[in-house]
Amino acid sequence: MFSRSLLQIGLRVCTHENRNGIKRVTPTLTYISDRRRDASTTIVGDNNKQKTMDDLDGPSFLRSLYWLFGKGYFQTTHQMQIEHSKIYGPLWKSKYGPLVIVNVASAELIEQVLRQEGRHPTRMDMPHWRSYRELRNHAYGPLTEMGAQWQRIRSILNPRMLKPKHVSAYTNAINDVVTDFIEKVAWLRETKGEGVMVNDLAGELYKFAFEGICSVLFETRMGCLNEEVPEETQKFIFSVGEMFRLSPIIVLFPKSTWPYLPVWKHFVAVWDHLFKVAEEQVRQKMEEIQERISLGQPVQGEYLTHLIVSEQMSVTEILGSITELLLAGVDTTSNTVSWSLYHMALEPEIQEKLYQEVISVCPGDKVPTSDDIARMPWLKTVVRETLRMYPVVPGNARINVENEIVVGDHIFPKNLIKHYEIRADPAGATVKPITRTLLVPATPINLQFINRTVQ
Ligand code: HEM
Repeated sequence: MFSRSLLQIGLRVCTHENRNGIKRVTPTLTYISDRRRDASTTIVGDNNKQKTMDDLDGPSFLRSLYWLFGKGYFQTTHQMQIEHSKIYGPLWKSKYGPLVIVNVASAELIEQVLRQEGRHPTRMDMPHWRSYRELRNHAYGPLTEMGAQWQRIRSILNPRMLKPKHVSAYTNAINDVVTDFIEKVAWLRETKGEGVMVNDLAGELYKFAFEGICSVLFETRMGCLNEEVPEETQKFIFSVGEMFRLSPIIVLFPKSTWPYLPVWKHFVAVWDHLFKVAEEQVRQKMEEIQERISLGQPVQGEYLTHLIVSEQMSVTEILGSITELLLAGVDTTSNTVSWSLYHMALEPEIQEKLYQEVISVCPGDKVPTSDDIARMPWLKTVVRETLRMYPVVPGNARINVENEIVVGDHIFPKNLIKHYEIRADPAGATVKPITRTLLVPATPINLQFINRTVQ
């Protein structure tokens, strides 16, 4: 009864007509779940029948396969989404065998999806990443965990990851990495680029991001920016790349066949290496902390020290989370920097404006602090505009675990996957990606659809 009242209030408040005169429900609460009614018979207003999944247009399973493999969108699924949105509009369904995905491709509709998320938003699961963890008895991290347990780890990881007051403690660590990066670029120009060129700037930025994330997470320098990258670090970087390369291949096969596939064995081996390096870092840090404690010295540090000392997580949990933070933080940042540099090279007046802003806040050799960054609004604008034009995570997915929800004119049942696109209309963004990894975030998201189909 209570939920019914909520529903009625919700409809009265939120039902309105769109430009085409269609009545639409724009709920802002997750009240619909309790109605337990057949979605196909929902009535909105007096005469308008609320639409259901059946009313949505979109490619069939065979047609989806044709787009992926016949038309060749397998590696550029975000482009396929753009083409599909031109054909079907901002809301359409794609079928991958038993799996139905609703694609949402307008900011307004995406907002509706996000506003109706339950207490524990659920992304597409990552069965291959999860399976590896189960095989080796490792813990899940923020990318692989779900439900209440996901929320628990996030609440532990969040403060030191997201709160500006804590994050500003990483200023020195990051500035050291930035200084090394600038020196490395100068060295590359002198020795390899005939005084001008850096031949693989995107690759260098990738190593810069890797070094930066490691310096914060592990509180140690990995040597990614050395003239000669240490062999172990090279292997670590290679393992990350291999893991991302193999992931979309593995999910093409039914899970039951994985143990027999050479590609799975390789996947397990590269994950083993990632965990081995992370374990080594954690072990060293624990020894350092132990030594300080036994000498009666204060224990100070950044991310890893805090996780270990606070004892909110077991060591296994720390490892599970820290490896995933590392994987999430490298391509995202390096590609964003790559694209912003690319556009500033194309538009020197924007570059000049940024330069003037930076030298006015940090004249001479002054090394910026987090307070200085807050006084650089143009810098923020440049980064935001870059992300608008080239979102490094251009698509994302949610599974409606808890509630049925309404998006636009349509109502959707529970346990449906919604894939939403965050993509500006990037006029001028027809240039080829300048980094080899730019498209990576889009790929696993879409490939997981296929995985579900074959399971
Ligand atoms: C330009 C930089 C970045 C962008 C644009 C970005 C964007 C995103 C997006 C769109 C998501 C999905 C959120 C969702 O499902 O609602 C995400 C998740 C995540 N990102 Fe980032 N990210 C960036 C940098 C980083 C960095 C530096 C780290 C860590 C060091 C990181 C760690 C994570 C983690 C752990 C998740 C999963 C969160 C969870 O589900 O609990 N990201 N990121």
